[in-house]
Amino acid sequence: MSMHKVIYDTDPGVDDAMALLFQVRHPEIELLGITSVFGNATIEDTTRNALFLAGRFAPHVPIARGAATPLVREAPGPLPFIHGNNGVGDIELPAGTDPAAFGATLDPRPAHRFIIDTVRANPGEVTLLAVGPMTNLALALAEDPEIAKLVKQVVIMGGAFGIHGTLGNVSPAAEANIFNDPHAADLVFGATWPLTAVGLDVTQLTIMSAGYLKALRDEAGADGQFVWEVSRVYHDFHLSSEGLDGIYVHDSSAVAFLVRPDLYTVRGGPVRVLTEGIAIGQTIQKPSTMPVPAPEWDTRPSQSVCIAADYAGVLDLYRATLLAAG
Ligand code: BDR
Ligand code: CA
Repeated sequence: MSMHKVIYDTDPGVDDAMALLFQVRHPEIELLGITSVFGNATIEDTTRNALFLAGRFAPHVPIARGAATPLVREAPGPLPFIHGNNGVGDIELPAGTDPAAFGATLDPRPAHRFIIDTVRANPGEVTLLAVGPMTNLALALAEDPEIAKLVKQVVIMGGAFGIHGTLGNVSPAAEANIFNDPHAADLVFGATWPLTAVGLDVTQLTIMSAGYLKALRDEAGADGQFVWEVSRVYHDFHLSSEGLDGIYVHDSSAVAFLVRPDLYTVRGGPVRVLTEGIAIGQTIQKPSTMPVPAPEWDTRPSQSVCIAADYAGVLDLYRATLLAAG
């Protein structure tokens, strides 16, 4: 059994919460820490939600509070119609923000420093699993560029690469995590660490249907009940915005790639992120098979982009992981 030492960088977030549960229950993942970032809600709320989730599912895993704003742009507003007023689907939370009240530990270091120190303490072993805006990762790189050579790999949920005509979910050109901090994302794609992007091209084809969620609720004990409760607002959003009676599996797909990369097909090549203009946040890969020169790409490392997956296999993996742990 291969173990993955993971720092989970997240903006919980309904699907972030489901992906945390997936990691905690997967026998090949050892969570070293959870770092919060603004995104689906304010940094105050995403950090409070991370404390709640850690207290409930991973009490020994420390939380480090991360960036409140993007590197350059203004912070986006929260998304109550997608993730609920509290960011985790309006499930009941303990009052206040005291980590002890959640049964969790708040590390005194800012997230990017926690990342640097943890990577340096475990050279060559740490996977950064980032499913929010990439700001904490970019800040860590800026403060200590050598960590790019010391992490084992980076797996992100982010981007839309035009496969099957997939363009974006917050604009006709951009996916939310990249759009929320495109400058950070461009730095993260350009660093010399091995990175895989699990973007909308595959996550919007990985769908937990209403029937799947009901079966999980009925068969997977308290975990299944949690997934059901936390996903009600999120499910309503998919129904009203897209007529989809189910939910896209965004952040859990990054976890699935980490533990079962054989379920995915990837394409290699450097990636750029547009940082201005009407297509700000657009992710563009130059496939490694493309023969033409493209100076804005050619000086950058090749990274992997998921272009297809065994979607049923991913759904089976999530379900089987919760059932096996129950
Ligand atoms: C991504 O954006 C967030 O709203 C989700 O949590 C996910 O990480 C999907 O575009
Ligand atoms: Ca997220």
